[in-house]
Amino acid sequence: MGWLKDDVALITGGGAGLGLALVHRFIDEGASVVVLERDANRADSLKRKFGEKIETVVGDVTSYEDNVKAVETAVERFGRLDTFVANAGVFDFFKPLSEFEGPEISAAFDELLSINVKGGLLGARAALDALIKSKGSMIFTVSNAGFYTGGGGPLYTASKHGLVGVVRQLAHELGPKVRVNGVAPGGMRTSLSGLKATNTADESLETMEGFEELIIGITPLRMSPTPDQYCGPYVLLASRENAAPMTGVVINTDGGLGVRGIMNVCGGEDLSA
Ligand SMILES: NC(=O)c1ccc[n+]([C@@H]2O[C@H](COP(=O)([O-])OP(=O)(O)OC[C@H]3O[C@@H](n4cnc5c(N)ncnc54)[C@H](O)[C@@H]3O)[C@@H](O)[C@H]2O)c1
Repeated sequence: MGWLKDDVALITGGGAGLGLALVHRFIDEGASVVVLERDANRADSLKRKFGEKIETVVGDVTSYEDNVKAVETAVERFGRLDTFVANAGVFDFFKPLSEFEGPEISAAFDELLSINVKGGLLGARAALDALIKSKGSMIFTVSNAGFYTGGGGPLYTASKHGLVGVVRQLAHELGPKVRVNGVAPGGMRTSLSGLKATNTADESLETMEGFEELIIGITPLRMSPTPDQYCGPYVLLASRENAAPMTGVVINTDGGLGVRGIMNVCGGEDLSA
C-alpha cells in the first residue's frame, strides 16, 4: 500500500457505490480526498468516517461553479490536486428507444448526458490548471457500455461511448502535461439511480431483481464484482510512478465481456465447477 502517498484526489460521486470504494482505497493508499457529491447526507457521513483525510463539497457535477468550488477546496485545504476522478453517473435502466413516449426522450437525454458526459468535461476544465501545475492526471469512469451494446439503453450507451471519446481527445490535447485515462467497469450492485425525466430517479440497481445473476451469467469470470474490486486500475492510473507512460487508455475491468463468445451467451459449460 502507499502508491498515492501525499497525493490529493478529487472524486465526484464519492458518496456511494464505486465512488465510495475509491475514497476508501485512495485514502488507504496515502492520498487525501475531496468529494463532490449531490447527496448532502452521504457527504456528511464521509466527513464523519474519514475526518481530516477528506473534504466534501455538496454540489452537482452539471454546475461549473460547483466543480470549481471542489477544485478550490482541494487546493486550499490540501495544497494541490494530483488526480481528478470523474465518476458521478446515472443510469437509464436499459430503457429501449421504442419505450420512450415522444418528447420524453429529449428531457431524458439532456438529464443523463449532462451528468455522465458534461459533468466530466466541466470537472476536467475546472481541474485543468491545478493538474498542469502538479503534472497530475484525470481518470473517467466509463463502463462496459462504453464498448458494447446492451449494458444500458441508447442514452446510457451513448453517454459512455461519448466518454471514451472524451478520454482519447483530452489525452491527445493535454499531453505531455496531464495524463488522461479511463476505467470501464462491468456491472456491480450499487445505488446507481435513474432519471427524473423517466420517473426512475428513485430506482436503483440495488433493488433490481436478478442483476447479479445476469452479470455472473454473461462474463467468462462468472463473478459479480463488488465496487472495491474495481479500484485497483484507478490506483494504477493515478500513480505517476507506475503509470508514467499511460495516457488515452481505458482499462476494461468487466470480467471478460469482450471475449465471452457465443458459448457463454448460450449458457456454455462452467469450467470452474
Ligand atoms: N453500477 C454499475 O453496474 C456500473 C457499471 C459500470 C459503470 N458504472 C459507473 O460507475 C459510476 C458510479 O456509479 P455507481 O454504480 O457507484 O452509482 P451510485 O449511485 O452508487 O454512486 C454514484 C454517486 O454519484 C452521486 N451523483 C449522481 N449524480 C450526481 C451529480 N449530478 N452530481 C454529484 N453527484 C452525483 C450519487 O449521489 C451517488 O452518491 C457511474 O459513472 C456509473 O455509470 C456503474
